[in-house]
Amino acid sequence: MNILSIKNLSKTYENGTQALADVSLEITNGMFGLLGPNGAGKSSLMRTIAALQEPTSGIIEFNGINIMENSMYVRENLGYLPQEFGVYPKISAYRLLDHLAILKGIVNKKERHDQIVTLLQQTNLLQHKDKAVHSFSGGMRQRFGIAQALLGNPKIIIVDEPTAGLDPEERNRFNNLLSEIGESIIVLLSTHIVEDVRDLCTKMAIIANGKLISEGNPNDAVDSLKNKIWMKVIHKSEWQDYQTNFNIISSHLNSGKLNIHVCADQQPDSGFGLISPDLSDVYFSVLAQNQFKK
Ligand SMILES: Nc1ncnc2c1ncn2[C@@H]1O[C@H](COP(=O)(O)OP(=O)(O)OP(=O)(O)O)[C@@H](O)[C@H]1O
Ligand SMILES: [Mg+2]
Repeated sequence: MNILSIKNLSKTYENGTQALADVSLEITNGMFGLLGPNGAGKSSLMRTIAALQEPTSGIIEFNGINIMENSMYVRENLGYLPQEFGVYPKISAYRLLDHLAILKGIVNKKERHDQIVTLLQQTNLLQHKDKAVHSFSGGMRQRFGIAQALLGNPKIIIVDEPTAGLDPEERNRFNNLLSEIGESIIVLLSTHIVEDVRDLCTKMAIIANGKLISEGNPNDAVDSLKNKIWMKVIHKSEWQDYQTNFNIISSHLNSGKLNIHVCADQQPDSGFGLISPDLSDVYFSVLAQNQFKK
């Protein structure tokens, strides 16, 4: 069993932006979902865990080893798929993986070859091994990103919003791949797509404005909102009124009308009906409680 232990982590960038404020988390094998709106600090947290930037204060330990003091240990045991990969060189998928494998320290040629073929198979890219990665579709690139993250059999992989921009079928394929991997190592996944966390993760945390505002098991979190989520369909013109008078956690358009969700112990007014909560109600109610209304 692997343990990633994050203790009182804070990060303030040179321009004064505080991206992380006293975040503590303990993560073990399996898929862990990190949810949060744009600018919450997800990528900042992930880059810090990947030892690509130093925290302002706090400690990160992986299996008891301080990652700031042992960058070699991190390089050997951690795979990382950044939110933006930057520009791909114009070489084939196979050659790029071979190059990255060397950087990872896999010096034995046969071992490198075997591992690359296995990973290309696993990510369903073997038939494209001679194509240049820059010519890949978005979904193929993300699967390639997982293949490179898995080079060297890491004990933890960090994937930063990997499904953003994928069509439903590619997203499904990608998520299945992740959940296979998550059976034996730590997979830390950041996203603002609530369904991905619901479908994949047994543990999750919500961050906003650099702070950890909720943590736990997604199903337990949903259960805790039973008999508390009320829905009403209103006309768009009524929105202002409702927003002033009720604690609306979310609203979405449905055939030109607005479905609003309110979190309350009692029926807010006669037009509201109880609905069974889902994980997006958890997400939005936690954000609303912490005043990051959407
Ligand atoms: N290199 C940097 N220098 C200065 N500020 C930064 C830097 N990187 C991020 N920030 C700021 O830190 C905060 C957190 O950003 P971060 O990218 O970690 O959020 P995020 O949760 O990943 O957002 P998104 O969902 O949009 O990817 C934001 O206010 C952002 O502007
Ligand atoms: Mg990000």
